[in-house]
Amino acid sequence: NIPVIAIDGPTASGKGTVAHKVADRLGFHYLDSGALYRLTALMALRRATELSDEHALAKLAEHLPASFSGGEILLAHENVTQLIRAEEVGNVASKIAALPAVRQALFALQLGFRRAPGLVADGRDMGTVIFPHAQLKVFLTASTEARAQRRYKQLIDKGFSANIEDLLSDLKARDDRDTYRAIAPLMPAEGAHLLDTSNMTADEAVEEVLKWYAH
Ligand code: C5P
Repeated sequence: NIPVIAIDGPTASGKGTVAHKVADRLGFHYLDSGALYRLTALMALRRATELSDEHALAKLAEHLPASFSGGEILLAHENVTQLIRAEEVGNVASKIAALPAVRQALFALQLGFRRAPGLVADGRDMGTVIFPHAQLKVFLTASTEARAQRRYKQLIDKGFSANIEDLLSDLKARDDRDTYRAIAPLMPAEGAHLLDTSNMTADEAVEEVLKWYAH
């Protein structure tokens, strides 16, 4: 019975950093499920696939030539680790993530990340849909302002340009789309531990998660 820790939450809540560090500490594998939606979005953008063409988008997701190695994300043989973090890619990802056929196409791929000795899965529906029997479920939140600041810093550090006002409105639009969609809406899973990281460092959040896991 391979353990899974599901860490869900809204965009820029810090879950990527926290989930990654928890995985490192436990020597577990790490699933960045958002990256799968972003990779599908990047392919759709490049091929100019209509965002209303659910069938075509699901086909892209189903045959996603994605690989993850040592923190790098590859699409076919191209390193797109930085590219998929662009706001435009994130926005398209959240639009196509509302399409049931796209979610279905990525389902089996995500289950495949569960390998010994364990998995830390990061996303929106890890605890609600993909790994409902996870040993530990965490729902990370942070205030909209704290998240906009984090996103700003992330983008600037990665060499993108950014503006706080635009980020705040993008963030709210993305939250609304993720929360009010009909399929796999963003919400805490049953039994999830809530963690508000607005005034916490990533390392403090990691300690909290590890403490819950140990109990
Ligand atoms: O977490 P990240 O910002 O990379 O995710 C990009 C988008 O992918 C999210 O806004 C969300 O709409 C979608 N997503 C999802 N389910 C997941 C992970 C991400 O719907 N498990």
